[in-house]
Amino acid sequence: MALTQSGPARDGWSSRTAFILAAIGSAVGLGNLVRFPAEAGANGGGAFVLFYIFCVILIGLPVLLSETLIGRHGQAAAPESFRKMAEQSRRSTAWEHVASLGVFSAFVVLSFYCVLGGWVLYYIGTFLGDLFTTGITGGAFAGSSVEEVEGIFPAMIANGGMTVTLDLVFLAITIFFVARGVSGGIEKVAVYLMPAFFLLLVGITIYGMFGGAMGQTLDYLFTFEPDKLTGPVMLAAVGQAFFSLSLGVAGMITYGSYVGRNVNLGVTSGIIATADTTVALLAGLCIFPIVFAAGLAPNGGLGLMFQTLPHAFQEIPGGSLLGLAFFIMVGFAALTSSVALMEVPTAWVIDRFRFTRPIAAGMVTFFAAIIGILSALSTGSLAWFHPLGFLPMFEGMGVLDTLDTFTGKITLPVGALLTSIFVGWIANKRLVDSENGLGGGLHLFWRFLVCWLCPIALIAILLVGIFPSILGQ
Ligand code: PFF
Repeated sequence: MALTQSGPARDGWSSRTAFILAAIGSAVGLGNLVRFPAEAGANGGGAFVLFYIFCVILIGLPVLLSETLIGRHGQAAAPESFRKMAEQSRRSTAWEHVASLGVFSAFVVLSFYCVLGGWVLYYIGTFLGDLFTTGITGGAFAGSSVEEVEGIFPAMIANGGMTVTLDLVFLAITIFFVARGVSGGIEKVAVYLMPAFFLLLVGITIYGMFGGAMGQTLDYLFTFEPDKLTGPVMLAAVGQAFFSLSLGVAGMITYGSYVGRNVNLGVTSGIIATADTTVALLAGLCIFPIVFAAGLAPNGGLGLMFQTLPHAFQEIPGGSLLGLAFFIMVGFAALTSSVALMEVPTAWVIDRFRFTRPIAAGMVTFFAAIIGILSALSTGSLAWFHPLGFLPMFEGMGVLDTLDTFTGKITLPVGALLTSIFVGWIANKRLVDSENGLGGGLHLFWRFLVCWLCPIALIAILLVGIFPSILGQ
């Protein structure tokens, strides 16, 4: 096999629908299903959720359009696309480093994302095993005490051999699709898995509506208590919005670079953001009723998905099957996102070094595995290692939490901030406008958002969010 490629025609999405499904697949993932409910629980519910929605519409959506248009214009990996636009606008090509930061962030997120993907695989296996022993009718884990069910999670994450192996398995599944290319692999996984995902999610949510504590959930998620909206809560919400929409990591620049000229990016951005936010809210509406109905507390962080929920499935008739369906759904969502995360650095390696796709994806996988192993061990034998523990913001955090916080609360918002400044102020206005697909009032509104609201709000949120954490308040 040739190690390098000499520049054949660039691969791309086979249709507009394929692009939309792949982009939704990238956006919808563990961020919606695990991180969103966990962050909502940890940050007090309603205030976080409503500010999150505000961030998606007024900050996330304009940045999403900005990223996809940079990619579509450049038709190349993210840094190259940034550079082309800067060059054609007669501005410094140093702006490409905004995208380099994004590529770096995507790589870091990939490294720990697959560890979480591995945890999901473990739960798929656990519920499958339980289905064979417990059967379809009763609750899951018949005959086990609450402590035993909740104990599955700490026992799993402490078992380094298990978490490392599952991390590598999840990475292997991811590279299987990425190595096959954009239309031959990446889009296939999204086109088949996303519809299956939506069916499962809607089914489980309807179940929650009838069987769970929906009233209590609506109160919890949508009651706005202004005094709970502190700087760190705002930073958590904006970081979550970017993580969830795959922004600030060059993800949407990369996916946008495979889009044809005939696609209206304004419209597709709206569809992607709406789908992603709907799924996050549905995830909340699907998880919390089950949790409340079982009389459990909602503020359990990651424990919500991996401890509280399995315990709740214990109380529910058909719990083994429902639990299995639930974790398969989470696995699908995680895979379409990890594929996107791997594609960002892979596309960069292909463009920069002219390696073939399988070699480029292999290199990314190799390094992601090395860092991933540290994350996988950080919940067990490496738990004592707090790489940035000398800063209050990262105090007591192991490798996995440190990387999650560092990207989610710093590099993603900073990447998105610089992107909005670039598109709003640096890039040639005519060039940008020819790509954005917006007309009339919407166009003016979008310009106002990218030029003014996004940069100002992001700088303010970064300041009020980071300083109290740095000072340890
Ligand atoms: N948006 C994904 C999620 O919510 O799980 C995570 C992600 C995927 C971030 C792809 C960035 C990216 F490029």
